[in-house]
Amino acid sequence: MRSSWQGRDIISIRDFSREEIEMVLQAAGRAHPDPDALRGQVMASLFFEPSTRTQLSFASAMERLGGKVIGFSSGKTTSQAKGETLQDTIRMAEGYADLIVIRHPLEGSARLAADTASVPVINAGDGTHQHPTQTLLDLYAIKQFQGHLDNLKIGLVGDLKYGRTVHSLATALTRFHGIELRLISPASLPMPPAVLRELGGLVDYREQEALDLSGLDVVYVTRIQKERFPDVEEYEKVKGAYVIDRAACRALGPEAIILHPLPRVGEIAREVDSLPQAKYFQQAQGGIPVRMALLQLLLKGELA
Ligand code: CP
Repeated sequence: MRSSWQGRDIISIRDFSREEIEMVLQAAGRAHPDPDALRGQVMASLFFEPSTRTQLSFASAMERLGGKVIGFSSGKTTSQAKGETLQDTIRMAEGYADLIVIRHPLEGSARLAADTASVPVINAGDGTHQHPTQTLLDLYAIKQFQGHLDNLKIGLVGDLKYGRTVHSLATALTRFHGIELRLISPASLPMPPAVLRELGGLVDYREQEALDLSGLDVVYVTRIQKERFPDVEEYEKVKGAYVIDRAACRALGPEAIILHPLPRVGEIAREVDSLPQAKYFQQAQGGIPVRMALLQLLLKGELA
């Protein structure tokens, strides 16, 4: 499969057409780990913010394909701590690696990295802005469990203001037909107006505070993003605003699915884990095939 993917940056889900999203998901479904596919290639994993899933699944995907990984998981252990700029860090990394994966607390940092680097850059989360590869694996999970990406009733629950995964996912859903979005958040944490403007006319959405899950095909729960609050007292007011427990799940049909980008910090009770609708751990496992597919497409332009 030849494509225009080779050498491309992945900064925002806005850059993807429906066809391109579907192409990645199809490629992920076919991605068998050829242990020689990326032999000799090096991925720089530059994580200036904490991560479990994104960092480990990118590394696992690269190594399963025969590539190598260099990098760090905190800016504090790099020369950033001595005052080096992000641009200079990227100039070094592009000389050491064939592709850069970056997570950084500042919105726009991945774009700056891509504008600086001559190798492909993947945004693994830039502040509250975007997390495009998470969205691809979210869509992969929805397709896997619901069988399609059109004509779905989807509830986004939790911190819609600071949660970058819901921003990316909401934008991605404008590419599909017949989507009804229920935006469930505390009044102080609504979906940003810029994202709502993108939805306008393309996605039928309604905003509400009440945790009403009835009739939903997909419940996408997010953590209240404590680290993004300028004032911890504001966080304390909304902490624990929603808890998806077995009682809340009684409103769900048997075919509904519950997703969460994880980590969770109490917003899905552990008693929910054994319900058939609970798919969040399987969702996270999809990070491997989706990221294997992306790495091959960006580095080789084709799947092995
Ligand atoms: N979903 C996600 O981005 O998880 P991590 O923060 O653990 O990478």
